[in-house]
Amino acid sequence: MAEQSRKILFSREKIAAEVKRIGQEISHDYGDQEVMLVGVLKGSFLFIADLIREIETPTVVDFVRLASYGSGTQTSGIIEFRKELEMPIRDRDVIIIEDIVDSGYTLECLYNKLLLQQPRSLKICTLIDKRARREVEIEADYVGISMDDGFIIGYGLDHDERYRNLPDIYLVDED
Ligand code: IMP
Ligand code: MG
Repeated sequence: MAEQSRKILFSREKIAAEVKRIGQEISHDYGDQEVMLVGVLKGSFLFIADLIREIETPTVVDFVRLASYGSGTQTSGIIEFRKELEMPIRDRDVIIIEDIVDSGYTLECLYNKLLLQQPRSLKICTLIDKRARREVEIEADYVGISMDDGFIIGYGLDHDERYRNLPDIYLVDED
């Protein structure tokens, strides 16, 4: 991907401010009641790392690994579980931590699967919400930044497994 075909959409400062705000909201909502964060790998690894340090509520962490994308920028619609939870979530207050919600298929699939394991509560937190592209009815409880269409990379988000290390989020020119 040529350097000139991408431009910063969300700066590291903007991301940090939104992460801090979400951390405060979660701390406020849960208080001293332990919360379990379920990070969706791989895309959310930087977000959850930063977010957890902004949460004052006692917190435990686990991860799932889902994959819905091939090497293109469109969803394949087929969601594959590549890693299951290691901790039981029954009777816990759980928050799913996603990097981005696009069509919503990935999250809907995960949400319904976790619900079957009977958590006390189940909420959704996403750094980026591509609302305009939603194909299923699913709403995040905590949203960092909303955006319209467009494919983005950086801060954990990849294109064909690359660019996750970029500290800012860039819009990729798909032309
Ligand atoms: P959904 O099932 O269409 O909502 O897709 C969600 C998943 O697709 C996210 O967890 C990301 O891993 C990936 N994804 C969606 N949009 C983008 C993007 O703009 N950049 C990088 N990954 C994306
Ligand atoms: Mg993801």
